Amino acid sequence: MDQKRIACDRLRRKVMSAEDAASLIDSGSTLGLSGFTGSGYPKAVPLALAARIEAEHAAGKPFSVRMWTGASTGPELDGAMAKADGVEFRLPYNSDPIAREKINRGEMEYFDMHLSQVAPMAWQGFLGPLDTAVVEVSGIRPDGSLIPSSSIGNNKTWLDRAQRVILEVNSWQNAALEGMHDIYYGTALPPNRVPIPLVRSDQRIGEPYFRCDPDKVAAVVETHGPDRNLPFAAPDAVAQAIAGHLLEFLGHEMAKGRMPASLLPLQSGVGNIANAVLTGLLDSPFENMTAYTEVIQDGMLDLLAAGKLRMASATAFSLSPEAAAALNADMASFRDKMILRPQEISNHPELIRRLGCIAMNGLIEADIYGAVNSTHVMGSRIQNGIGGSGDFARNAYVSIFMTPSTAKDGKISAIVPQASHVDHIAQDVQVIVTEQGLADLRGLSPKQRARAIIDNCAHPDYRPALNDYFRRAQGQAFGQQSPSLPAEALSWHERFIETGTMRE
Ligand code: COA
Repeated sequence: MDQKRIACDRLRRKVMSAEDAASLIDSGSTLGLSGFTGSGYPKAVPLALAARIEAEHAAGKPFSVRMWTGASTGPELDGAMAKADGVEFRLPYNSDPIAREKINRGEMEYFDMHLSQVAPMAWQGFLGPLDTAVVEVSGIRPDGSLIPSSSIGNNKTWLDRAQRVILEVNSWQNAALEGMHDIYYGTALPPNRVPIPLVRSDQRIGEPYFRCDPDKVAAVVETHGPDRNLPFAAPDAVAQAIAGHLLEFLGHEMAKGRMPASLLPLQSGVGNIANAVLTGLLDSPFENMTAYTEVIQDGMLDLLAAGKLRMASATAFSLSPEAAAALNADMASFRDKMILRPQEISNHPELIRRLGCIAMNGLIEADIYGAVNSTHVMGSRIQNGIGGSGDFARNAYVSIFMTPSTAKDGKISAIVPQASHVDHIAQDVQVIVTEQGLADLRGLSPKQRARAIIDNCAHPDYRPALNDYFRRAQGQAFGQQSPSLPAEALSWHERFIETGTMRE
């Protein structure tokens, strides 16, 4: 047993196997699990629980649980539990392919919600009672307080709200993580809510540890396992072109005096395009940048190492295996430049609006008026979820969405007459960038927006058909503020479903 990692005598006496800990969980119960974009999720108890569920099912007994997390987790949690048919309900964000398949087959209920709202809704009681928290930590201090792991997510709320707590102490996590976290305990429910006293992204307003009532801890499980670290593809020509347009736009904003040379706090979604933008910032004229974002990915680490980024505030890491190894080797020097916070703080609308974040997120499709679909392929098939994109897009200083202009080898246009599902209304979308170019939609009427999006962002193969639709809509629509032909607008999607391509 690792006495340094589990320094509390009382909690050391509760060390047991993952199987014994999993046996404490009842069918039908609600679990609050740690984990955010594949970091800091419990790696042993969910696997043991999934094995137990499979055994129960084999014996003809029903067994399932309800799962709340921070965001996506890893295959040992979402993948194993979905494969075991053990999840009857899940919130708030999923990117696991097995769980995605179950959700899209209608075999798992999924509540896709804004990430900033999970903790407040749990406290407000809207989500029902929470039975068991299963939380990965990197250590337990002598007084029973907990050293967080590589993500914070909703852990503070799960530890506070759950009837019972199971801790996984993961010795794979670097001990030098201690001190990087900032857990704010000042949130309250209306009518007692007060302003959150954070006015700069580098500010610490809380404490580095989770409080946890030792009486609630039912089990402590020792683990030694890596986070799910997915490799990043080297930026291709499309990602580089998108990054180029975006960096030119930021330079233009600086030249106009609308942003300082250090820019404003960056928020960057995950994925290869977002990472290409961050990589592009390495050679940019911007200095002393900061990030107020959800996850710290490879590109941010590079910017920190190069001294271009002064500090990054987030709720989790989302790193490739190489970047995770580089961070682990040099954690002490990175620690003072990074702050991990609860997701209700990293994604808080009040703070995003106050700090003036530059929000940069991906999309599935945008329509000619600028409404964005981030979640549902062909309007009904969930890809991941809204994640933090809504928290940031509505409240940012400037809200940017970026995408290749086509998907599926050009068979789908990412710019369509009408989005088949809307996550971000046109008012929350100020800039759209594709490899074709950038549409700055600020201050434009709907018809002006359509002109800018079709001319600058649509792929040339789809531009004539979009122009044709827009021209006819202007002649025939019921109204001329946002001219549309509802019966025809979604025919592009129907054509793809029927023929496998949106091309006519
Ligand atoms: N129509 C149909 N399918 C499309 C499509 C479109 N217009 N655009 C993309 N797809 C498909 C891709 O082909 C791919 O399918 P595959 O997995 O079968 O290969 C899948 O959707 C993902 O596309 P990809 O280009 O790999 O996406 P990405 O990694 O750039 O992510 C989002 C794009 C929108 C899915 C992603 O940004 C997301 O989940 N956003 C919502 C959450 C968010 O913004 N989080 C950050 C906020 S802090």
